[in-house]
Amino acid sequence: MSAYTETDLVTTIGQLAGADLSDLTQAQLDGIDQFHGGGAEAVDRLIPSLDLSAGMTLLDVGSGLGGPARQIARTTGCDVLGVDLTEAYVEAATALTSVARLGARVQFLHSDIARLQRSGFDAALSMHVQMNVDDKSAFFGEIAKRLRRGACLAVFEVCRASEDALPLPLPWSIDGTDSFLAAPSDLLGVIEDSGFTALEWVDETPWVLQWFDDLGSRLAAAETEASLPALLADGPTRMINFAVALADGTFTVHRGAFRLAD
Ligand SMILES: C[S@@+](CC[C@H](N)C(=O)[O-])C[C@H]1O[C@@H](n2cnc3c(N)ncnc32)[C@H](O)[C@@H]1O
Repeated sequence: MSAYTETDLVTTIGQLAGADLSDLTQAQLDGIDQFHGGGAEAVDRLIPSLDLSAGMTLLDVGSGLGGPARQIARTTGCDVLGVDLTEAYVEAATALTSVARLGARVQFLHSDIARLQRSGFDAALSMHVQMNVDDKSAFFGEIAKRLRRGACLAVFEVCRASEDALPLPLPWSIDGTDSFLAAPSDLLGVIEDSGFTALEWVDETPWVLQWFDDLGSRLAAAETEASLPALLADGPTRMINFAVALADGTFTVHRGAFRLAD
């Protein structure tokens, strides 16, 4: 059973917000379109390792609603292509990008990374995606094939630190069938074996936990009913289960910075 079943997200966001999308503030949008623990702060922590500047190209693999892609384009001036398996997310990402007037530099494609025809990107990003991917070696191999030599890769990924039963439902899996969590050292090994040299591999769980602790007050301060937990089927339960599993040591969130061989 897929975890990503939502449809017509733009209409839902508008109904929840009771406002036109263009009236939402950046803080309100950050609570809607960043589909990972750590929100916009996580993206800020990844940006330096991507080594991007205006005119360079970024591939965002599993781009979701496009919050990270737009944030990086705004911050660095680069061009971004996001690819995602879920058509409704690609439609929402494209609409939100048009409202943000970033459509000339940020585009989204409904595709599995394995079918993407473009290559030669200067950098790649993947946030909270590989836990849906069984064959991680093929996944990171497909990313490597689409980058130029010496390109940067940044990941922000959920790992499994214990073999305890999964606390379902989770943001990326309703019934466990599409969850393929790896131990941090195993995930690092797969990425390195795909041709990438690790520059950083950091356990970011402590501050992500704090971010979850602050989520309620942040959503209250945003003064809108529109939020990621409200958009997702059973969203609040899925978020709480994720946060509890981070707190009790079942999961970690790891940030990785890598460079493809020259
Ligand atoms: C939890 S969401 C994260 C979205 C986004 N990276 C973010 O952090 O806001 C995971 C996304 O990965 C996408 N996905 C999973 N496997 C994929 C694959 N092989 N190729 C492209 N997208 C994939 C899903 O459709 C979903 O939108």
